[in-house]
Parts: sequence; structure tokens; C-alpha cells
Amino acid sequence: MDTHKISAWISRQDQIDRYAIPVQRTIAKLFGAEGKAMKNVEQFLHGRWLGHPLHSILVHIPVGAWTLAAIFDLFGRNAATRGAADWAIGIGLVMAIPAMLTGSTDWYPYDNAAVRRIGFVHMCANWAAFILYGISLALRTGNDYFGALFTGSLAFACLLASGYLGGVLVYEKRVGVNHANEPEEEVQLNEFVPVILLANLVENTPVRLQVLENWIVVVKSRSRVFALADKCSHEGGDLSKGTVVAGCLECPWHATQFRLEDGQVVGGPGVFPQPVFDVAIEDGWVMVKAVRAVEPLRSSAPIVNQVSLM
Ligand code: FES
Repeated sequence: MDTHKISAWISRQDQIDRYAIPVQRTIAKLFGAEGKAMKNVEQFLHGRWLGHPLHSILVHIPVGAWTLAAIFDLFGRNAATRGAADWAIGIGLVMAIPAMLTGSTDWYPYDNAAVRRIGFVHMCANWAAFILYGISLALRTGNDYFGALFTGSLAFACLLASGYLGGVLVYEKRVGVNHANEPEEEVQLNEFVPVILLANLVENTPVRLQVLENWIVVVKSRSRVFALADKCSHEGGDLSKGTVVAGCLECPWHATQFRLEDGQVVGGPGVFPQPVFDVAIEDGWVMVKAVRAVEPLRSSAPIVNQVSLM
């Protein structure tokens, strides 16, 4: 079965945008409201405090609880297993709320059409599962056991559909994964590589350079020079096209702010720190301690042909 066709079909349905875009805008408006409080809430939901997307952790709790409920329903023949299924559905309902909140927060900044549409259908499937499990629980307490089983089964089908789409977002569309350059077998050079003359750097103007296998962005700010990986860890945006804001480099795509000093995220939807490179100034050259995936270079002479100013 080629499940890829399903996600590809959803990606092409531009009528989904009629609903998805207003939802994204509403969430953006909510977090963009005056005051720092909502920004802090957004950061919390993204999982910046944890250095990891919070959604990917929370989502397992309702999925696990509802799966248990399905097993109890399938094999349960007595009051104890019925009671256990009720509890599992109830726990799933409670924990689905933070899971859905974090998921919506991660999704709303995306303007990529496929991610927006698949994410929206994923969200609708979650809501459908949530509502159906709520009805199922109500029917259980009202002793309509077969009605409860029927709605519970529908809810579980929605949950599986949602799980499939969530997997497409992560494994195919690479939403929520770290996009920064990470050479597979890094060898830390013991020497600095000259990358650009200091005189060629303009204050707070990022410059994109290639050093060995890495594309990096070099920034002079407040009489200091910083070097970070160019590809944004959030979704792969070019940080060299970003702007310097209060000691941070802000990505042009979704406005994640990385501290120049150490690459830590201080704002925006990203949660993974940006790789940083050691920098030194020598004889008017900006020197960067680079990493490469092959044998380290031993020469300390300027490697002009391996440095390109974009
Ligand atoms: S790519 Fe999303 S903030 Fe950089």
C-alpha cells in the first residue's frame, strides 16, 4: 500500500487553505498580542525551556492511554476491564489538551503549503478523536456500552489517521527536526582557518561563507565577531539573510532568534540551539575553528580557495 499517495493528495488540496490559513492567523494573533506574557506562553509550548519540542513528548500520553482503552475494550469481558477502559479514556482526554495545544503552536508559523495542509488535517483528526472519545465516555457513564464501543472505535480510527499524518510531518516533511549542519563524522581541527578579512565585515551585517564542508554565517557586532552554522536549526532558513537584533541573529523565515554568543534560542518557534564556531582574529583575518568530515587540514596558511564570500 502506497501511503505516500494519501499525504501527497492532501498536500495538493488547496481548498484546505480556506480553513487552515485563518486558524494559523488566529493563533499568530493570539501569541502576537501585546505584552510579553503570551510570548512566554508560546515559548513554553514550543519547548524551548526543555531544548526539545514538547509536543513530541506529550503526544504519547493520550495515544498510549487510548490504545490501552482499545485493548481493554477488545478483550475486556468484566466490570474491571470496562472500568479500566473508562479511566484510560478519561486520562487520554485530559492529556490530549496540552498535546493539541503544543502541536498547534508548533504548526502555526509554517507557510509551506504541504505542511500547512497536512498539519491542518492532522489537527482535525485529533479533534475528531477527542470529541468522539468524549462522547464514548459519556455513553459509558450512561451505560450505553455498545454505543460507547462504536464511538470509541471511530475515535481510535481517527487517532491512527492522525498518527500517520503526524509521522508524515516529521519523517517526510521534517517538521520539528534539527536542520542545522551536522557533518556525520566530525573531526575538530586543532587550528583556526582564516575565512575573511576583518576589514571586510560591516557591523551587524551577516556574511555567508563556506569553510571546508560547512556553510557558516559570520557577524561582527559590538566589536566582536561571531560564527554560526548558516542553516537554521528550525527549518533550514538562511541565517545569513537574517537580521541582528539585540545580540541575536534572527532567522528570516520564522523569526527564531539565536544568541550570537552561544547559539542558544531566545525567541521564536525553534528549540534546537544553533551550532557555533570558535572565532579568533589574527593578522587582520577572522579565523574560525572549523569541523570537517575528512582528514583534518594541517596547513595554517590562508585557504583562499576554500573561502567564498557570497
Ligand atoms: S527556519 Fe524557521 S525560524 Fe529559521
